Amino acid sequence: MSSTTGEIKKIVLLYSGGLDTSCMLRWLQDKYHAKVISFTADLGQELGEKGSFKAIEDKAKLLGVEKHYTVDLKEEFTNEYVVPTIKANGLYQGIYPLSTAIGRPLLAKHAILIAEKEGADAIAHGCTGKGNDQVRINVTAKALNPDIKVLQPLVDWEMGSRAEEVEYAKKHGIPIANANKKYSTDENLFGRSCECDVLEHPEEIPPEDACAWTVNPAKAPDAGEVVKIGFEKGVPVSVNDEVMSPVKVIEAVHKAAARNGVGRLEHMEDRTVGLKSRETYECPAAVTLIAAHKDLEKYVCTKHENSFKTLVDQRWTELAYEGLWVDPLRDDLEAFINEINTRVTGWVKVQLLKGNARVVARDSPYALYNYKLATYELGSTFDQKASAGFIEIHGLQSRMAFQLKKAAKK
Ligand code: ARG
Repeated sequence: MSSTTGEIKKIVLLYSGGLDTSCMLRWLQDKYHAKVISFTADLGQELGEKGSFKAIEDKAKLLGVEKHYTVDLKEEFTNEYVVPTIKANGLYQGIYPLSTAIGRPLLAKHAILIAEKEGADAIAHGCTGKGNDQVRINVTAKALNPDIKVLQPLVDWEMGSRAEEVEYAKKHGIPIANANKKYSTDENLFGRSCECDVLEHPEEIPPEDACAWTVNPAKAPDAGEVVKIGFEKGVPVSVNDEVMSPVKVIEAVHKAAARNGVGRLEHMEDRTVGLKSRETYECPAAVTLIAAHKDLEKYVCTKHENSFKTLVDQRWTELAYEGLWVDPLRDDLEAFINEINTRVTGWVKVQLLKGNARVVARDSPYALYNYKLATYELGSTFDQKASAGFIEIHGLQSRMAFQLKKAAKK
């Protein structure tokens, strides 16, 4: 990844305001004698001790950036990345709703856009060499503009630990917000990822302080609550009958789910780089919305579509997780996913109760459910006499094979 010192004159740094990227800001200027432009994206993350986007900008300026960009990407992130994830019921290995994964290609896209606008030779980011995030950012950036270099100081610099970074920061007058931070976290409006410290021991139960968004399910209200989510062609468009933008839907569902302890996830995850890692997440809105979407989709699709959609969803999810957002297979799969979703219109009621999000009711003009056919009451239109012939043929080969196997055993 690293380039020869000297040829890089201007660098766009993906800047979070935290310790890693603050040290980087200074280090890049020293190492390359380059001008640095910082870029901070608003993906709906909570800023905590970082204060505000203005405070992050001020910090970057204090550390000598030539220019700073704060870009509000909440709408683009939701419409172009989160909504496709909902339509694909995107749960990596059945658990993780891809919240961090889908943010990365968007960050790479905007870093490249800024680099092109500003005539920068390189972008730089704060990913380690062990994770998925480097794969996602680097693949996307290199696809969008192969001429712009991607620098990864955490891999190239001499500092090997957080303690050494704190030393470096002190030496260079870099303000430190939280030197004793235990966990590595990443946040956006679709979820919060938390790693490191005791979480690296899979045999230990994650401590309460690894969670920041959700109420402990044991302490959540006994009554729980039911939230009604409306969908239009697979896009969530209303909450409790109030029509709103998908961003607002996510915010409203987040609040309801979080106060009921929904969305705490614990996962032994297979990373793209081959490592198994212990990950914890809080994804209250994602868990609730995907459960609701999946239920409504299943309600309007044939059993053949439902079976095939599971395969397509899994493949889409793996591509997104593995950082291959730019691969044309994603578009190909989305053509199918979007076609299926033209019928995913209606509403779903989800009961949020002590950590669980359970779908309890749904309705759709495209439902393949038919009361008259399904009812056990008198007057059903389903011809029960037709079943006998169907069963005869349906089980034909299976029955024959069973009998042959039994005979062979004697
Ligand atoms: N394992 C998750 C993923 O690959 C989360 C990564 C979180 N990143 C972080 N800096 N804590 O999507």
